[in-house]
Amino acid sequence: MKQLLRLDYTNCLQERVGDQGIERSAIDGAAAHLAEITERLNAARDAGSHRFRSLPVDPLRGEHVAAVRHLAEKLRPQTRNLLVLGIGGSALGTIALQGALKPATYNLMPPEARGGPRLFVLDNVDPNFVGQTLDEIRREDPRLEGTLVTVISKSGETVETAAQFLLVRALLAEALGDDHPRHIVAITDSHRGTMRAICEAEGYATLRVPDGVGGRFSVLSPVGLFPACMCGIDIDALLDGAKAMDERCQEPAADQNPAAMLAWLLIELARRGKDQHVLMPYANALYPLADWFRQLWAESLGKRVDRKGKEVHCGPTPIKALGATDQHSQMQLYCEGPNNKVIGFVDLQTQPRDLKIPAGPEADALAYLQGSTLGDLLAAEKRATEYALVESKRPNFSITLPQLDAHCVGQFIQLWEVTTAFAGELLDINAFDQPAVETGKLATFGLMGREGYEKYRAMVEQKLG
Ligand code: PA5
Repeated sequence: MKQLLRLDYTNCLQERVGDQGIERSAIDGAAAHLAEITERLNAARDAGSHRFRSLPVDPLRGEHVAAVRHLAEKLRPQTRNLLVLGIGGSALGTIALQGALKPATYNLMPPEARGGPRLFVLDNVDPNFVGQTLDEIRREDPRLEGTLVTVISKSGETVETAAQFLLVRALLAEALGDDHPRHIVAITDSHRGTMRAICEAEGYATLRVPDGVGGRFSVLSPVGLFPACMCGIDIDALLDGAKAMDERCQEPAADQNPAAMLAWLLIELARRGKDQHVLMPYANALYPLADWFRQLWAESLGKRVDRKGKEVHCGPTPIKALGATDQHSQMQLYCEGPNNKVIGFVDLQTQPRDLKIPAGPEADALAYLQGSTLGDLLAAEKRATEYALVESKRPNFSITLPQLDAHCVGQFIQLWEVTTAFAGELLDINAFDQPAVETGKLATFGLMGREGYEKYRAMVEQKLG
């Protein structure tokens, strides 16, 4: 029996943070509305219109896992470096899974200890960053024989990924000649987009981004599963965890449904002026998940209009922080600055490893540390920070992962994805589009001279001079 993630929101209640918190009666009062939303979301899920919720269950799951495993098993033995090209939802999930489930020193470990190739994710077009990454791959593999490039773009049109792809494809073609297509795997829409057309023309191996799954909801599709499987992450455990959480998130009773409760608390607190939502893991491994959360929360909930077309300009601002590190950077602001934040802690019930603090030089002021562990210290610091926030009447909550494994990470991912869907309902907005991101993409095409997009260049020049 796998252990379940725990959500503790007591520190958001008035009994802890006084008039800055939520009344228990307000939670009771929201129960019927939340049950109705749950029913609506369950129906959308069952009808397949919230496709991300079908990813951890068959038939979609079986189809993806079989395709991902088949390709990964074929390519892993010959791959020393896996280079992922992608941005936003096509990269953040991979970075988060790798950070959570593989050691921080993964790329520095000997191959037999890693259990997969070194992983590099190019999620920007900063020439210095791209150049340094490519230099490192070519230092280790000058002829690129052991290098596999995975280009990920749902739309197949994203300019950053397209530019990286052209650059990397040219390097592969130069080093490997006619053999270079065997070193490229593309993950893209099954029918549409330039990337799909290129794959067909060049004969790349492909995996598909399923229809109806947006980039930021795609980590549990081949987008995140293929790089994870290549690096030896247990993708079945990941999906089992997501499935278990999805089942909890179908419960009509809000106190049994962590997504309904979390979404309601955060949106209600945002309505009461606390619209800065900090996610603060007390584990370095979980920090990249806070980055993944930022995209999910920001792109899904930051909207100009509601579903009726009324201008609302809504959306909480997601912020990431790391405990205990940011106690020494952000906590002064969180405790004494504007009372406009909700702090969400993420911690581990059991540490994957711990280090005992030994005796040291004679010093009374250090004696209390001896015999404790770094894990004890980290846990005490989190508890002390909760206390400091409660004392300052700052609402906060904790999500506790029983342990650091793929099952728990899968639960965490599904929790936030379903919470986002609930939050969209509570705000009455479309949580699944990103019209403002599209505006910037079109303007970039215009500025870079793409045919057919001249009017966007003209519009930019007219506005900005
Ligand atoms: O979540 C989103 O939709 C976006 O952030 C996309 O993931 C990002 O723009 C990359 O798009 P694509 O996968 O189409 O290249």
